[in-house]
Amino acid sequence: MTTFKTLGQFIIEKQADFPFAKGELSRLLRDIGIAAKVVNREVNKAGLGDILGDAGQINVQGEGQKKLDVYADQQFIKALQNGGECCVVASEEHELPVFIDSEISKNAKYIVCIDPLDGSSNIDVNVSVGTIFSIYRRDSVGGPATIEDILQKGLKQVAAGYVVYGSSTMLVYTTGKGVNGFTLDPSIGEFCLSHPDIRIPKDGCIYSINEGNYLKFSDGVKKYIKYCEGEDKQTKRPYTSRYIGSLVADIHRNLLLGGIFIYPATLSHPNGKLRLMYECNPIAFIIEQAGGKASDGKQRILEIEPTALHQRSACFMGSLDMVEKVEEFLAKEL
Ligand code: AHG
Ligand code: MN
Ligand code: MN
Repeated sequence: MTTFKTLGQFIIEKQADFPFAKGELSRLLRDIGIAAKVVNREVNKAGLGDILGDAGQINVQGEGQKKLDVYADQQFIKALQNGGECCVVASEEHELPVFIDSEISKNAKYIVCIDPLDGSSNIDVNVSVGTIFSIYRRDSVGGPATIEDILQKGLKQVAAGYVVYGSSTMLVYTTGKGVNGFTLDPSIGEFCLSHPDIRIPKDGCIYSINEGNYLKFSDGVKKYIKYCEGEDKQTKRPYTSRYIGSLVADIHRNLLLGGIFIYPATLSHPNGKLRLMYECNPIAFIIEQAGGKASDGKQRILEIEPTALHQRSACFMGSLDMVEKVEEFLAKEL
């Protein structure tokens, strides 16, 4: 008989790593895992809408068919509301924080920042999408949580993860003690430990950046791209360019194979495009926990002091040696 470990079993086992934990974080992670399965089911059906005659029609609850990012947002928020371990959610889909003020949740310890569906423009063409989440402990005690409770540095994350809805569906997460990956076995409906203790190769041969924006990049970034394209046997250049346009999918590939993901500041996006609280920080935490590096070009992403829920940040993240190399190019332009 083959033995396997489910996400639920793994989370409970790992609770022993935190001697004073009462199980709330474990329950929160379990709730996110359950919502991910519900979203996975719907993502898998994307494209069937029209032939089933659903598009634009009214469903049994009297609602029109929803865009998948709205659907995903509702599923995660519902799971967090029902679970009772989270007092406030900051989501890409809501301009303001969503406070959960039910009796069971208002004194809950945890805060969740989430990109419910990442890479959503890829949905219509059957390309991988994802979910990204980040968990903080609330600082204030008693009464409703505040916006300051949410705006914590990435360094203070207690857990972070992503789900990639790809050729198979995987959940990858960290609680600050390494990174583990679970693959959804659809036949039993469980995430099973498939990638224990993921380490990102120290160096890699893949660079991922939207080169269509080349003319808008700074000198340092342009020179780094030319470096990646240059020929050199010893450093195995030219490197391979791979860019899906779904952060989760691009990061997942580079995490496993070694590589760098870059979304720099451009003329049209002077602070970069990706959002600090629910894209850059959780991915940076995972990359660092796997032995890689995540920088905004000037400093460690996890050390950025956030000032707004939806603030953006440039990002250079991936294999340690590759990120250090691009930093050399960026330092020269200053
Ligand atoms: P989202 O679908 O959550 O808005 O995120 C899209 C993001 C990210 O997934 C991806 O890395 C990036 O946008 C791609 O941007 P470009 O199309 O500008 O390259
Ligand atoms: Mn996104
Ligand atoms: Mn999104």
